Amino acid sequence: MAPARQDRFVAWLERWGLEESGPPLEWAAVFGRRSDVVLDIGFGHGESVLDLARRQPAVDIVGIEVHTPGVATVLDAIESDGLRNVRVVFGDGLRFLDRVSAETLASVRVLFPDPWPKPRQHHRRMVAADTVAAFTDRLCVGGTLHLATDITDYAAAMRVAADGEPRLTGGPVDRSTADRPLTRFEQRGIAEGRTATDLLYARR
Ligand SMILES: C[S@@+](CC[C@H](N)C(=O)[O-])C[C@H]1O[C@@H](n2cnc3c(N)ncnc32)[C@H](O)[C@@H]1O
Repeated sequence: MAPARQDRFVAWLERWGLEESGPPLEWAAVFGRRSDVVLDIGFGHGESVLDLARRQPAVDIVGIEVHTPGVATVLDAIESDGLRNVRVVFGDGLRFLDRVSAETLASVRVLFPDPWPKPRQHHRRMVAADTVAAFTDRLCVGGTLHLATDITDYAAAMRVAADGEPRLTGGPVDRSTADRPLTRFEQRGIAEGRTATDLLYARR
């Protein structure tokens, strides 16, 4: 980053960022209101976070990403569009869960998590039985877990993990009804011949 951009990044992260680690957060204190709070883990370039923030100003969104350019893009948009319903965690989404109290989220979204395609890499995949349980802990009753991937065996593994979580009910939904934009990442998959699977579950 050029020095001026770097300075803006640091200042805006100070303004709109949440630390990855620390004490549990009170959403009403973070956002200054009572609202439905959505966690979007691994937002990439930020399309899904910004789309939801613009379409649903009454909803508050915490986007989490480890990749600097994506975080910078979202911070730029928060500032330029005056979005007040987005906070950014520049860090690890799974570690951040320690700051999220049980039954406080309206939704958790993990859209196109890194595929780790080789069998010896599968243990690195973000969505598995233990993480699905951790996401579910944080959902209010009726809150949703939205997962998407265009990697066939990952979709099947996600489904096994979510179907195996007794507090969840749901399954695959049609892409046309999945509430998310077409991202650069999904577009690349389509160009390479892949099709996305969306899985939508609700906490009983
Ligand atoms: C394949 S991209 C998908 C991005 C976006 N969700 C989309 O649908 O276009 C996956 C993203 O997850 C991020 N990521 C991977 N592990 C993460 C973690 N532990 N915490 C937060 N972000 C993570 C990566 O940096 C990457 O940007």
